Amino acid sequence: MTEIKKKRDGFGSKIGIIAAAAGSAIGLGNIYRFPCELGNNGGAAFLLVYLVVVIFLGVPVMLSELAIGRRSQSNAVGAFKKLAPKSAWPLVGYLGVLCGFIIFAFYSTVSGWTLEYIVKAVTNSFRGKDLATIEQDFADFHNMGWRNVMWQAVFIFLTGFVVFKGVQDGIEKYAKILMPLLFVILVVLGIRSVTLPGAGEGLSFLFKPDFSKITGKVLINALGQGFFSLSLGMGVLITYGSYIKKSDNLTSTAFSVVIADTLIALLAGIVIFPAAFSFGINPKAGMGLVFNTIPMIFNQMAGGYFFCIIFFVLLAIAALTSTISLLEVVVAYVSEQLHIKRQWATIVACAISLLVGAFASLSLMENTPFTICGKTMFDAMDFISSNVMLPLGGMLIVIFVGWKMGKSQFFAEVANEGALKAPMKAIIYFIIRYLAPLAIAVVFVTGLIK
Ligand code: TRP
Repeated sequence: MTEIKKKRDGFGSKIGIIAAAAGSAIGLGNIYRFPCELGNNGGAAFLLVYLVVVIFLGVPVMLSELAIGRRSQSNAVGAFKKLAPKSAWPLVGYLGVLCGFIIFAFYSTVSGWTLEYIVKAVTNSFRGKDLATIEQDFADFHNMGWRNVMWQAVFIFLTGFVVFKGVQDGIEKYAKILMPLLFVILVVLGIRSVTLPGAGEGLSFLFKPDFSKITGKVLINALGQGFFSLSLGMGVLITYGSYIKKSDNLTSTAFSVVIADTLIALLAGIVIFPAAFSFGINPKAGMGLVFNTIPMIFNQMAGGYFFCIIFFVLLAIAALTSTISLLEVVVAYVSEQLHIKRQWATIVACAISLLVGAFASLSLMENTPFTICGKTMFDAMDFISSNVMLPLGGMLIVIFVGWKMGKSQFFAEVANEGALKAPMKAIIYFIIRYLAPLAIAVVFVTGLIK
């Protein structure tokens, strides 16, 4: 994309934008991280808080990012430089770029597992195995640290390949077809899961809240998960917003993405928990929860061999459309602000991510030396990015729109300079200016005091 100066790359169609933004949002965060967090944070009580976060903060924060991006026609750092010249606001963009690196580093670890599991599925290595054996295989795989790093490297390479080619024929093309397919296979899996013996217990765990379980820790984890799942708080949607056409409707884009993302997370919950309870897998199993439950379901299913392959392929692709957005934030910043060719920016960013990411992978081996404050490097990267940097970034972004960019610019952008009515804009702006910063700050403080 050497022609950056002449014409910025952009999305070609309305459905392409939604697909790309939903592609960024929908990923391992929904299918892997959401069930893990829900299992570790009291089940339905967590779901309740999560839904409140997503409904009341998801759309306003997302719309703030999209508006900043499209108004400025720039990357996560450049956007703040343009809209607030000679101020400290670009620091929010730098925070985002740094956060993108950290997330890409540990996210690519789990993305790599999806490739290992494609191979396992193709070679039919789950067939006839009981739970104990499947769990042991998963643990053994983690102890092969370098095998993890190898798959991680393959995944980072794939991400780099797409980003290397640029926005329109890279990101858009893949996301458009494959996301709906993922939805379909999750529905099929969900039907199998809820009809397993003993599934009811899993459904109650998921949907019957025990309010006494809502603690400061649950609040901050739900907030972090909400931001993580919607790709908020680090400038993905500022960057993507800058590629959206001036005539497209930002509000409906934000609503569509939030709804699609939440639907997929809910479906993942409906797939995982009834089956986990049915097989006797502990909902607090963490990393193993999804990777052990899914093969067990396919073992109980007609055509399980083929469905299993399709599932892991789609999971890998869902992860890919997410890592693409992470890398795109970094590459857009480096290529536009530092005037380094897009291709070189991609190569260097991938190399650094692999270097940092290898520590995340190797930190999951037994007796690993790679720990910080008693946490594995993997968990430490996850915690600092999702529970600290994303909410902080999100809070600063809404404060920026509510108090610096201001009502008239925000309204102009959201209503396409008056071409659209955008009837929700006043209420959303109210949330952006008052409620969202306050809510994030309160949750942040309660969570960190714990
Ligand atoms: N939202 C993605 C998921 O749920 C992960 C992701 C992609 C992300 N880009 C992001 C998370 C930016 C936070 C910020 O899998």
